[in-house]
Amino acid sequence: MSVESTTRAVTTLRLKEMKDRGEKISMLTSYDYSMAKIVDAAGIDVILVGDSAANVMAGYETTLPITLDMMIYHASSVTRAVNRSLVVVDMPFGTYQGDSKAALDSAVRIMKETEADAVKLEGGEEVIDSIRRILSAGVPVMGHLGLTPQSIHKFGTYTVRAKEEAEAQKLIHDAHLLEEAGCFSLVLEKIPAALAARVSSELSIPTIGIGAGPETDGQVLVLHDMLGINKGFSPRFLRRYADLYTTMTDAVSKYIEDVKSGDFPNENEQY
Ligand code: KIV
Repeated sequence: MSVESTTRAVTTLRLKEMKDRGEKISMLTSYDYSMAKIVDAAGIDVILVGDSAANVMAGYETTLPITLDMMIYHASSVTRAVNRSLVVVDMPFGTYQGDSKAALDSAVRIMKETEADAVKLEGGEEVIDSIRRILSAGVPVMGHLGLTPQSIHKFGTYTVRAKEEAEAQKLIHDAHLLEEAGCFSLVLEKIPAALAARVSSELSIPTIGIGAGPETDGQVLVLHDMLGINKGFSPRFLRRYADLYTTMTDAVSKYIEDVKSGDFPNENEQY
């Protein structure tokens, strides 16, 4: 296989070019082969194999329980489906905090075993050693600041972050630190729109917002939320593009009805 045929059409360099010419970047999560195939074919720029898989795929309350092996399973299912989009994989809680060598080992496992294009880590200064070490191995890193769900037990709430001046200043400091370290992009989650706009204009790398207003260089949503599969989560920033919960419930109900009545299968649906 040539290098070209192993490289997906959207690269980290292309995302930077998109920022430079003011073209917005689209990003959605995916966790499995079938969904990733649809999302990629629709033309999304970036697919995030988010640790939100812990919530939407496994039913955990928080993202903390998901393991590296579970993330590798989800990510390798996704990369088998994807031709065009850049695939970024979340490093799960406990695989990069506190020990940069362990962080590098985890990132190397993700890259070797999933054929993803990049990893994403939550946090700023407190995880900068891990970020530098992963980058030194040539693995592209996306940062993640603002609401960082892996720290939910420290915050105690999923409310908007960095509304106070001190936290906003730390976020600005961390954003610059991540850019200087060599991160290729930065997710800004649930922070005031004005702060996200400021960070996006100060950085030369693209920012991707979720609940961070319109001035970030791109937007990301959790696929199951925007498709309306997951009805129990309705933050203000979420726009639902479909009501698949209802569509799927109706289809399953109709199937049950047809089986019970003997209508399914009919003479054309048998051998
Ligand atoms: O895990 C995830 O889905 C994420 C996005 C919300 C950015 O980190």
